Amino acid sequence: MHHKKPPFVAGNWKMHMTIQEAKLLAAAIIQARLELSEAEIVLIPPFTALRSVKKLAGESPVQLGAQNLFWEEQGAYTGEISAPMLKNVGCRYVVIGHSERRQYFGETDATVNKKIAGALNSKLNPIVCMGETLEEREAGKTMPRVESQIQAGLAGLTPEQFREIIIAYEPIWAIGTGKTATPGQAEEVHAFIREKLAEIYGKEAAFCAIIIYGGSVKPANSYSLFREKNIDGFLVGGASLEADSFIQIIKEAIRAYKEEQ
Ligand code: 13P
Repeated sequence: MHHKKPPFVAGNWKMHMTIQEAKLLAAAIIQARLELSEAEIVLIPPFTALRSVKKLAGESPVQLGAQNLFWEEQGAYTGEISAPMLKNVGCRYVVIGHSERRQYFGETDATVNKKIAGALNSKLNPIVCMGETLEEREAGKTMPRVESQIQAGLAGLTPEQFREIIIAYEPIWAIGTGKTATPGQAEEVHAFIREKLAEIYGKEAAFCAIIIYGGSVKPANSYSLFREKNIDGFLVGGASLEADSFIQIIKEAIRAYKEEQ
């Protein structure tokens, strides 16, 4: 059965890149995209570089995403950025509930839930992050943790709204550590997530959902991870900061994708 979806690969630049650096990196990826047409490629620069990267991307299919948003549309919320503002600057996607935001900035499943609503109201596609800590994994609590993140984070979504969402499974112990989940470990959780989504939104919607993996994705592990049945792409941190490694990750995912065709 030809079940494999085309690779969805997003580069989360986190708190890196001046405007000048962002333009150089984006230009190299936009150029390379000409030979990577099978993949959906998303660049997620810091807020300050969104406009410059969007201008460079122009009509290219390379998409723009933001790393965070606030759920209100406007108002007295010093330091925050809203969904309409992100839409206005040309974003299609927005990352919500990244583990770094949960860890350092007090975000919870409840704020994730509000942010998803804010994003959807402005027709942005949320990339909703979830994943367990090392302690949770070692205590055998990975699945309950992820299940509660689905239940609380996605609470109240209609099936139509659910279709606009990308799920990113990012085990916290694998982020920035060089300790990638093995393809088997990642697949196990992706399959579990899809199963839970099927229980809530139905088999068809769960089958169509894009579930990407994040946590030390590199050119050397992209192929074997993407070969797994339920892994539809990647949310790449460190290795997305250099054009060569990010492009190689996409190439390797496309290679695995083509083998399934
Ligand atoms: P690394 O690829 O640097 O481990 O980061 C993963 C991540 O958090 C992407 O959002």
